[in-house]
Amino acid sequence: MPVRIRAQGRISPAIDLEKLRRVALRLLQLTGQREGELSILLVNDQEMQDLNRRYRQRDQATNVLSFPMREADAPDSGLLGDIVISADTARREARELKVPLGQRLSWLLIHGLLHLLGLDHERSPAEAIRMADQERGLQQRLQQLERRPNMPSLAINIDHVATLRQARGGSEPDPVLAAGICELAGACGIVVHLREDRRHIQDRDLRLLRETVKTKLNLEMAATPEIVAIALGIKPEMATLVPEKRQELTTEGGLNVSGQKKRLAEVIRQLGEAGIPVSLFVDPDPRQIAAAAAIGATFVELHTGRYCDAASEAEREREFELLASGAAQAYGLGLKVNAGHGLNYQNVQPVAALEEIGELSIGHAVMARAILVGLDQAVREMLTLVNGAR
Ligand code: PXP
Repeated sequence: MPVRIRAQGRISPAIDLEKLRRVALRLLQLTGQREGELSILLVNDQEMQDLNRRYRQRDQATNVLSFPMREADAPDSGLLGDIVISADTARREARELKVPLGQRLSWLLIHGLLHLLGLDHERSPAEAIRMADQERGLQQRLQQLERRPNMPSLAINIDHVATLRQARGGSEPDPVLAAGICELAGACGIVVHLREDRRHIQDRDLRLLRETVKTKLNLEMAATPEIVAIALGIKPEMATLVPEKRQELTTEGGLNVSGQKKRLAEVIRQLGEAGIPVSLFVDPDPRQIAAAAAIGATFVELHTGRYCDAASEAEREREFELLASGAAQAYGLGLKVNAGHGLNYQNVQPVAALEEIGELSIGHAVMARAILVGLDQAVREMLTLVNGAR
């Protein structure tokens, strides 16, 4: 548990400790301390005064105290230390500053955490300015995160309607009709992957979808000149760049963004000039996410495949942690965050519950269910799960 939180003595009215714990977790992620561990103690003014006298020889209550734990010779160890907050003082200060108590508590947490990370406003005026800047920046990021809409949207990938049609080379089932049914059932967008080998979606599908999709058309594509030219002509609402190999059954891994920054930046620029924001499909790998932000992507889509295919519960938890920290990292870098690949009715909810994730892209599981229960019902059932996750 990276954040332990408890209240000591009588604190009334009670404070929502779980909410404060979530704020602390976010702060660890926003400050690049995903491995960091933190202990938070809420006390009243009397106990704060005792602590302040005992450890700082100041016989008065204060708002926050930090007790760093990191050894000078082990600066990267997990344990950051303790933050003690006086709930009485926080409440008084919130009233004086006319801000909600939660906002004041967040600021005190930020202040305490920056002390644990080595900043000290009492050391010099320059450091006081630096610390105040960081406090403001972190507070803003927290507020942005809180303003996020409460649930992710669901975009439906209709490639496999076309896969079924191509099995006989005829005209049915038609992905264009399927897209309409998905939208009527509540999907926020339609995703198609125009592959270079045209194994499922065809150019005709894309042209008609462009005319008929009422929500948002997301074109998955390889960053090749042929497909970029098509995208520039069709102008989908967004494009998702994916790696593409002819032999693969489906997209197998995320893009190697850090290894082809220049090429991808150029495609992002071309599409961006045509008003098409770009998402990069990446594994939840900090290097790839940082590279995506550095070359100007608007979104990343986190590849959920390894989480979905995990062979054991322990492996699934590990993969989930990577997704959670990847989502926080991407969001912290100013990227919009989507996720997809392999999500189904059993595994979608933990991913949908990640607050940074704005949209899920799901195809195969919905189409597989649609064959048995109908497309409208399959989409609605998935929506119920996604909407119920937060
Ligand atoms: N996102 C991307 C980038 C994909 O390539 C795919 C598969 O086409 C999906 C999401 C949807 O995956 P699934 O069909 O497994 O739901």
